[in-house]
Amino acid sequence: MTPTAAGSRTSTEFQQGRRTEVSQKLLAFVAEVTRCVENVQDEVIVVSRVRKAMSELVSTDDWLPETMALSDPKFYQQHLLYGDPLDRFSVVSFVWGPGQQTPVHDHSVWGVIGMLRGSEINQRYGRTAYGMDPIGGSERLEPGDVEIVSEAVGDIHQVRNAFDDRVSISIHCYGGNIGRIRRHVFKDLGETQEFVSGYSNALTPNLWAPAQ
Ligand SMILES: [Fe+2]
Repeated sequence: MTPTAAGSRTSTEFQQGRRTEVSQKLLAFVAEVTRCVENVQDEVIVVSRVRKAMSELVSTDDWLPETMALSDPKFYQQHLLYGDPLDRFSVVSFVWGPGQQTPVHDHSVWGVIGMLRGSEINQRYGRTAYGMDPIGGSERLEPGDVEIVSEAVGDIHQVRNAFDDRVSISIHCYGGNIGRIRRHVFKDLGETQEFVSGYSNALTPNLWAPAQ
């Protein structure tokens, strides 16, 4: 095959170049979080930087691979987008089917949640002598909004899809391998149950692949 001379790229090649640039948004996010966990000790600063990077990531909805946006009729999905090999952080596409919701749960590590598509309702909870009580009113996250969970700002909440007739998707980054961490759900009457969430997908995305 004859090499293409510089300056004579076809319009298709230019299009492919543009599409590649779009798909590298997730790669840029993963690179920034890696730099944070590598170089910064203070959790407040790490979360602040990850929040800024998440805000950029969910400012446009044009990069998530279709397979990472798949919902399930019975269960909300947690598609692993990237897992740090040293378990310092993980990035998850959280896909809500219509009307789906979590139980009241904790995380045990910091989490930064960016709303990408649709909308979700977040209700924080706090421990009381009798179990768990809501803290304040619920908040509605719209595309582009970013929320934090941590020991410092509150680690326990319940989340649900704001819609009963469509899928919603939020992108989560946690300060650990969230699919393997032992954490808790809190039931009525103060009953606590340990769980490990795992992930919904068997394969993670190619961060260098052209956008679909
Ligand atoms: Fe959560």
